[in-house]
Amino acid sequence: MNNLLDGINETLLMGPGPSSVSPTIYSSISKTTIGHLDPKFIEIMDAIKAQLQILMGTQNELTIPISGTGSAGMETCFVNLIEKNDNVLILSNGVFGGRMIDVCQRLGANVDSLNQKWGHAITADMVKEKIANTNFDLIAIVHAETSTGVRNPIEDIAPLINATNALFVVDAVTSLGGLEIQMDDWGIDALYSGTQKCLSCPPGLSPVSFSQKALDKLMNRKTKVPNWYLDLSMIANYWSGKQRAYHHTAPINMVYALYQALYDIIEQNPKTVFQKHVDAHLYLLKKIEQLNLELLVEEKYRLPMLNAIKIPHGINDMEVREPLLNQYKIEIGGGLGDLAGHVWRIGLMGYTAQNKNIDRLFTSLKSLL
Ligand SMILES: Cc1ncc(COP(=O)(O)O)c(C=O)c1O
Repeated sequence: MNNLLDGINETLLMGPGPSSVSPTIYSSISKTTIGHLDPKFIEIMDAIKAQLQILMGTQNELTIPISGTGSAGMETCFVNLIEKNDNVLILSNGVFGGRMIDVCQRLGANVDSLNQKWGHAITADMVKEKIANTNFDLIAIVHAETSTGVRNPIEDIAPLINATNALFVVDAVTSLGGLEIQMDDWGIDALYSGTQKCLSCPPGLSPVSFSQKALDKLMNRKTKVPNWYLDLSMIANYWSGKQRAYHHTAPINMVYALYQALYDIIEQNPKTVFQKHVDAHLYLLKKIEQLNLELLVEEKYRLPMLNAIKIPHGINDMEVREPLLNQYKIEIGGGLGDLAGHVWRIGLMGYTAQNKNIDRLFTSLKSLL
């Protein structure tokens, strides 16, 4: 019988995610599956909490991976922190800001948004003007907008939000493990990420952390969290405390993968890993200039791990991306929404962020352009 898995070839993942998985992580996934209440597994869960606290820059007790991809982390933050008619502000400049708006509207919140043109950052001045004389319960922003390659300066925006009563929620799906995050110093109340970007794991878990202020909101809700699977008040009983009450069966081998990913980053030193992303980005930039290509985003707000390159006039997006994948076994991303057909998105995330990969991509691109 034909086994479809035999047809999976090695492809270099240089798109917006998933990124290539490192060998140490592949070998962690193949370890024996043990029970989700096995003391050894609980030891690994506790270690992951401590590892995530380091990478997120927080002491938050409730720091755990949610079973599911990055969108599950997004949904976790909003279903736990929003009640019907809460006033919510989404700072949006791409697909994932747009997804936040959709999720919050489905929860019955009064959603307002500050919409910046795609490819441009949301600045502190824009936020200052928008929130003057308003009273939001929650304000959310994407740190690294994967759809455009923009880094929103959350460290500058944070003090403005901290001066209000609003909970501050940050999407760190693409930034965690690639950019510095100081959750406590920046007064972030809820943060979520994903395993398949700079952590270089397969997709499947979404690290989430809640501050005491976020926990207070959760514990004092007037209504039940409207989603059973993502209700943090129940999940927290499994991830911490003495009881370790069963909620759902943890995806054991994905948890091994996350443990290994965090172990590798912390052992290398997170600062070294962040610099590795910057170095790869600068190397890519040199190659881009050699081919007379241009980046979409202005220098100050460029992400190192996601580079949106303008497609030159006269070049058809798919006539390059298709042979790149089928002949050269390299995946890059296309543009989304208004940027479809106008940009390529090149990911330099985690294990992918190596000069030899950039060389391989540009040798292939050169022959295609
Ligand atoms: C910034 C951002 N937020 C949220 C998500 C959603 O994550 P997932 O596709 O893993 O559900 C993504 C995925 O690319 C992302 O880049």
